[in-house]
Amino acid sequence: MIETKEKVPPPSDRDPAMWFSPMEAQTAPSPGRASPLMVPIRSLGANHRARIARHLLALEPHDRYLRFGFAANDAQTQRYTDSLDFERDEIFGIYNRRLDLIAMAHLAFDADSKRRDCAEFGVSVSKTARGRGYGARLFDRAAMHARNAGVGRMFIHALSENTTMLKIARKAGATVERDGSESDAHLLLLPATLDSRLTELVEEQLAQTDYRIKVHVKQFRDALGGVMARRPDARNDQRDSPK
Ligand SMILES: CC(C)(COP(=O)(O)OP(=O)(O)OC[C@H]1O[C@@H](n2cnc3c(N)ncnc32)[C@H](O)[C@@H]1OP(=O)(O)O)[C@@H](O)C(=O)NCCC(=O)NCCS
Repeated sequence: MIETKEKVPPPSDRDPAMWFSPMEAQTAPSPGRASPLMVPIRSLGANHRARIARHLLALEPHDRYLRFGFAANDAQTQRYTDSLDFERDEIFGIYNRRLDLIAMAHLAFDADSKRRDCAEFGVSVSKTARGRGYGARLFDRAAMHARNAGVGRMFIHALSENTTMLKIARKAGATVERDGSESDAHLLLLPATLDSRLTELVEEQLAQTDYRIKVHVKQFRDALGGVMARRPDARNDQRDSPK
């Protein structure tokens, strides 16, 4: 179940009352959902694979169990990361100022291009970054991307005990069907509009800019740290140097 989860066939007719528009959700959040945080969520490419692995391998065993649906060991987690298809799927991430990947989401599309009406969502947030709304924001971001990619339904396969994930899905308007220890959540998506496409474009640009700033700040800090670390040596060198 780690990557190839069964895809649900697209609905024959969609119930407009259940349609979801991530953009509307941002401007008019549902009552009870945390404030619509402006979180810089960026799309990740294959050059982020090592950081994705670091993030997933740092998850505690129970979190990996919730994330993948089974107790994935290090080798299985690494295999999942190595097999991520950045061309077919969309991977989203949130970085902190130290450039640690503190949250990531995987929106998986069906390999069969004829069944691209459905996409599957999986997410994880580092323990220290939970409860800040990142999980919900990644869900909204993925739903917006799926919608703009022409997908009609986003699907989440979760363990029934995963009340946090199911709460995120329910609050976004998904229908949750429980089947014993496992649950499936389905979110019907509105067709894309010019507005939804522009919103995604702007959000991605802002997130890329935020990332570049973090890279520069980190480089500056590292360089400054290096200079500071060398300073005592430099003083010693001066003292020892012939006058
Ligand atoms: C599920 C997970 C991604 C949630 O991430 P998060 O960033 O902490 O979630 P959010 O902060 O967006 O919280 C979403 C909602 O759940 C609630 N919540 C958060 N932690 C909770 C907990 N331990 N118990 C119950 N509710 C909780 C929040 O209060 C929020 O509700 P609100 O909108 O009413 O305020 C995170 O817990 C995680 O990585 N778990 C391990 C992996 C996993 O289960 N992945 C999902 C399977 S695909």
